[in-house]
Amino acid sequence: MPKTLITGGAGFIGGHLAARLLGEGHEVVLVDNLSRGVRDETLEALAARPGFSVRVADLRDPSSLADVGTDFTHVFHFAALLGVQNVLDRPAAVLRENVAMLETMLDVAAAQDHLERFVFPSTSEVYAGTQQHFELPIPSPETTPLAISPLEHPRTSYMLSKIYGEALVHQAGLPFTIIRPHNFYGTRMGLAHVVPQLLQRIHDSSDGDELVVYSMDHRRTFCFIDDAVEYIVRLLGPNGEGGTFNIGVQSPEVTIGELAELLISVVGRDVQIVPGETTPGSPPRRCPDMTRTIGATGHEPAVTLEAGVRRTYDWYRDRIFSGGGVSAR
Ligand SMILES: NC(=O)c1ccc[n+]([C@@H]2O[C@H](COP(=O)([O-])OP(=O)(O)OC[C@H]3O[C@@H](n4cnc5c(N)ncnc54)[C@H](O)[C@@H]3O)[C@@H](O)[C@H]2O)c1
Repeated sequence: MPKTLITGGAGFIGGHLAARLLGEGHEVVLVDNLSRGVRDETLEALAARPGFSVRVADLRDPSSLADVGTDFTHVFHFAALLGVQNVLDRPAAVLRENVAMLETMLDVAAAQDHLERFVFPSTSEVYAGTQQHFELPIPSPETTPLAISPLEHPRTSYMLSKIYGEALVHQAGLPFTIIRPHNFYGTRMGLAHVVPQLLQRIHDSSDGDELVVYSMDHRRTFCFIDDAVEYIVRLLGPNGEGGTFNIGVQSPEVTIGELAELLISVVGRDVQIVPGETTPGSPPRRCPDMTRTIGATGHEPAVTLEAGVRRTYDWYRDRIFSGGGVSAR
């Protein structure tokens, strides 16, 4: 039976992936220090199922998983210090902790007797330096030469920790898959992300209110978490080994203003969009070239932006916005 270790498993992607792999017969051990992820009813329900366990541990301590065992077939290292506020306030910690946690997890993975795959999530931010200094092809293929944003900018810390992380994973001598997530959204994600944050602000508005939308003309594509997990699971097959894969959707590409209009119609409020400031350092355009990933997985995105947003809103409205539920930070 496959046995899977997921760090950062109480968080957004790790939690969804854990549920999916458990359903496919994996034994799952989830590790998290609960700094962002939460032990909500979803996680408690998973923890009650056979073959699933939660281990609260802080990966900044290299010995935190010393007794974890050597029979994992799959290791997903999703824990990281991330989020705009962390990146802006604690760039040194982002660099040091992300690299240190990855080193710890590569050692854990190397100690496994029959490891089939180590999965490392990088980020779409790796393309930001190329966009800043050169001509970034859009949609952006994985083969795009990567440039580094100015090193003195705090925001560079996150992408640099991921670029260095990709290099470490390449050289670790393990069977690996590197993924570059592009704007995943869905249920059970931190409220600071653009989709749930806008949904909450619209939900809390009254008809006639104004809604300030930042970076209105920035363009993004958004990938519903079910499609993201489908790609990740399919990449565990032989086509995914030793490769780097964008994960996201190539279309539709929407401005943040257009996204806000869609969210307003889903929530059903008569609010007026007012353009806000442009967030400094936020890439103006981001869109993955999905040719390689679709070729390797045979999967095309199945959930439209409107359907995914509706499902996301229904979940937040019932569990979080109406009070009572806990949400990831
Ligand atoms: N969500 C996206 O669209 C996206 C985009 C780009 C990259 N990624 C990458 O994917 C991974 C998962 O992202 P996510 O959106 O699920 O984030 P998340 O914040 O929801 O999950 C990360 C989890 O790691 C845990 N964690 C942080 N520090 C830890 C520590 N020292 N010890 C143990 N656990 C710790 C947090 O408590 C959290 O539950 C991250 O590595 C992130 O950089 C995600």
